[in-house]
This record gives sequence, structure tokens and C-alpha cells, in this order.
Amino acid sequence: MSTPDLTRSAAGPGGDDRHLGAVDRRPGEPVHLEFGRKPDEPGEVLRPGARREYPPEVLERLRSDADQIVARYPQARSALLPLLHLVQAEDGYLTPAGIEFCAVVVDLSPAEVMAVATFYSMYRRTPTGDYLVGVCTNTLCAVMGGDQIYADLADHLGLDGPGDTTADGRVTLERVECNAACDYAPVMMVNWEFFDNQTPQKAREVVDALRAGHTVTPTRGAPLQKFRDTSRILAGFPDPRPDANDTPPGDPTLAGLRVARSHGMHAPAPSATAPTSSTDSPDTAPTPDEET
Ligand code: FES
Repeated sequence: MSTPDLTRSAAGPGGDDRHLGAVDRRPGEPVHLEFGRKPDEPGEVLRPGARREYPPEVLERLRSDADQIVARYPQARSALLPLLHLVQAEDGYLTPAGIEFCAVVVDLSPAEVMAVATFYSMYRRTPTGDYLVGVCTNTLCAVMGGDQIYADLADHLGLDGPGDTTADGRVTLERVECNAACDYAPVMMVNWEFFDNQTPQKAREVVDALRAGHTVTPTRGAPLQKFRDTSRILAGFPDPRPDANDTPPGDPTLAGLRVARSHGMHAPAPSATAPTSSTDSPDTAPTPDEET
């Protein structure tokens, strides 16, 4: 019985086994896989040159901001996600200094903070340019041209892989997962603002304008801000742009609603005993005795 070529079958497309550590295997020898970060995953937080501590004046300013954020929550640790945006606004990505700061504020260990931060793709582990350009290459956008847009932009910007930044520090390019804007596929995001119905040409024009320092306005929303300014808004501080939050839903988003109305469709009336909101709980729902 022949031994299956496990090295090849476990490798990536085209049999590329550079990441398997088994290239010198003789027939019949076991395959040893080296586990580590995925080839296209952003780098580690403990990167060379990453900030390890904040100067006193920065620490004082961050502490003041953090006090405002924490005051919105019943427990300090509930503020961890906006606090991570706050330190990302300071450094452009998560550094050991930022992780340590958050850990002290919410009374968790740095490892616990890291466990949370690395779960969410909006927290970056590599330095970020002024504009984080994310091309959706999830299923629908991919079939509508997202892969082609990403490949074209990478070539146009001269970037090697996801997460790389142009030499002028203006644009970081990455792939993003579905942004719940499939009705406008293929979608590109810049600093989390939507650019709908993109083509390679349109996407190139956006990044060229950003690199030239022009004001760029997304399909929906106010003109773009730089990544760190956006991170500060995500930390919960006011958005200074007029009309930033007043964009109504677009026409394709309302198509289902129009169809439902034209067919006289309605959502079923809530049952008398069913919970009516997420705030209802077994503790607050009426008991059988109270209902009678
Ligand atoms: S697949 Fe791209 S927004 Fe949904």
C-alpha cells in the first residue's frame, strides 16, 4: 500500500509547503506540522520598536480620557473595548504600552487584555497608515470582483501582502470580512467608512486621492478622517464632522422592505407572554400567579 503524500495534501494551493517544516521528509516518515501564526496574519504586538511605555505627559492625558470612558460603565472592565480604541488612537496600533495601560485601568492582566484584543480584527497589531483601506473579499464581494480589486490595489500601491503600508505612510491595505453591506458589493472600507459598488479603477482613484492629500468622501457619510482620529471616535469621543451620523439607509438596503409592503406582509404580533425586549429576563417576567 502506498503512503499518501501528506506533505503535499496538507500544503496550500499549488502544493506550497514552506510553512509545514516537512520539506526534507523521506517517504514513509511522519509529517510534523509547525503551528504558528497564519502566513498572512498581522504581526505580533511585541514587535521591534513598539512602544513599551508612555511618557508622563501622555500617560496623564490618556488617564484623563480613560476616566471619561470608564465612567460610562458600571464596571471598569466593561470599558475595555473603547479603551483599546483609545490607545490605538495614540499609537496607530496596539503596542505593549497600550496593552499595559488598558490592563492597569481595568484591573486585568496584560495577557487577559491581549486575549480580548486579538479576538477582534479592528484592533491592529502592526503600524497603520493614515488610511486603512480594507477590501471585502468575503464570498459575495469576492464573486462580484473584490479579489480583483484587492490584487489590483496591491499591485498599484506596490505592496506585498495584507497589512502592508505604503512608504509614505498614507495607506495600509488589507482584506476585510463581510461588513454587512453585501447589497453594495463589492465594498471597500477606508477607516471603516463605506465605498460602495467598487471597481479596480474606482478603488485606485480613491487611494490616489488619499495619497495626494485630497479630501475624500465615502459613498455614505462624512469626509474621511485619519485612522487615529477615527479610532478616537470609536473610543466614544464626539465625532466633530457635521452630518457624520445622519445618512439614511440606501435604496438597495430598503428593497426587501418594499417587497414586503407590496405583498401586504407584516411581522407577526408579539405573543402576550413572549419577552418584548432584551431587557426582559426570567427575573423580571411575570410569574404564572401574576399573570392570572
Ligand atoms: S460580502 Fe462584502 S459586505 Fe458582505
